[in-house]
Amino acid sequence: MSVLAIDAGTTGVTALVVEHDGTIAAKGYQEFAQHFPKPGWVEHAPEEIWQATLEATRQVLASYDAKQLKAVGITNQRETVLLWDRETLGSPRRAIVWQDRRTADLCVRLRDEGHEDRVRELTGLRLDPYFSGTKLMWLKENEPHTWALVESGRYAVGTVDSYLIARMTRGTWHATDVSNASRTLLFDLEAGDWSDELCELFGVPRDALPELVPSWGEIARTDARSFLDLSIPIAGIAGDQQSALFGQTCFDEGDSKCTYGTGSFILTNTGTSILRSDELLATAAWRSPDGEMTYASEGSIFVTGAAVQWLRDGLQIVGSAAETQAIAKTVDDTEGVVFVPALTGLGAPHWDPHARGMIIGLTRGTTRAHIVRATLEAIAFEVRDVLEVMPGLSSLRVDGGAAANDLLCQIQADQVGVPVERPRAVETTGLGAAFLAGLGTGFWSSTDDLRETWTLDRKFEPSVDRAEADAAHARWRDAVERAKGWAE
Ligand code: G3P
Repeated sequence: MSVLAIDAGTTGVTALVVEHDGTIAAKGYQEFAQHFPKPGWVEHAPEEIWQATLEATRQVLASYDAKQLKAVGITNQRETVLLWDRETLGSPRRAIVWQDRRTADLCVRLRDEGHEDRVRELTGLRLDPYFSGTKLMWLKENEPHTWALVESGRYAVGTVDSYLIARMTRGTWHATDVSNASRTLLFDLEAGDWSDELCELFGVPRDALPELVPSWGEIARTDARSFLDLSIPIAGIAGDQQSALFGQTCFDEGDSKCTYGTGSFILTNTGTSILRSDELLATAAWRSPDGEMTYASEGSIFVTGAAVQWLRDGLQIVGSAAETQAIAKTVDDTEGVVFVPALTGLGAPHWDPHARGMIIGLTRGTTRAHIVRATLEAIAFEVRDVLEVMPGLSSLRVDGGAAANDLLCQIQADQVGVPVERPRAVETTGLGAAFLAGLGTGFWSSTDDLRETWTLDRKFEPSVDRAEADAAHARWRDAVERAKGWAE
């Protein structure tokens, strides 16, 4: 037997079949289109997310016997908001993606009206366009005809997990878990429930929101007519970063991980305490079927892998992400070139939605190799910026696509000054969803059982002189200051 995991990320959907020892028996992947209707706006077509989910699942079923699947776990890009018709499951408009900056001015307005402190106190988040709440408020203010159908109860509102659950169950279920709910600005972190006060502030009818269910346990069942003839329990749900924390078996207070995906997200398990900070977010990690909440402290960096994707698709100076290591290695350093990939503003710890990307220090001798190397360095610098406000780490567990890049892992260890540990399975996000679903159906009996699946692939020790690493980082910080406020 095995467990299916669906990881609906920002640029594509991965389907994994995970066996009891944590090995991946089959994998499918399908990218979907990114829509940029205006500078700073990012949208996805919900139907394309669903079709990519079906296609990725079809790919695994082509090489794996569906009868062996015990359950499915879902993990997803967080904060992205969708609307869909409860009857037809069609969406009246595209999803507004977490990276979308259209509500930067709305956030300033809410801050000027004095809402920031209360919002932070209730949610552990901040007034930043990143989160779902202001995106929904924007819809209400700018697309009143569509919003009227949210208010009448015809359209459901949710994040990607809820949308997929609705599609997989033929509209029978409208559900989410606390890890996703805690990213919406509508969730009271301490109470562990939707907040009427916040729903009123952002103008979202509570009835349009999904029901909160535990992060694991038999939550619903897929409908074979909609989901490729599969009728299996949906037994795990988590936002992708919390799922990666689970997949890295960071079950104890103080355990941390860094996932390199579209963005990079560093999460530390804070147990049953909510850790409040000016630069970091407090978030729900998961809620067990008996109702116990586990929290995490998070440093969210918006653009890391997306910067590599931009080198590939925007600048067209690399053919694939995998090539970046070899290209960057053709030069010893960037010769003073610094790339600040604030392509969708800056997240933790800088929090400036008006910052924009910048490449500085170009000379006539600059080649694509310097720019590619500067991109890998930028990822490591961004993670260091977060770790400087999240102290106490004795090592850093990494995962996600770019963790396969040895050069990046080495630069990362050199920058943060502690060893970087890479597990054998870097698909930790999907693994986390499989773990949740497997725990929810008794496939794994306990978190101890899961811990045994974690195996080290390679440990990267810091190897450069500290003064040298610090000087490079100081130059980066100087560049970051110059990129701030550009789109104000
Ligand atoms: O908060 C956004 C995050 O969930 C997106 O993750 O994996 O698409 O970079 P990813």
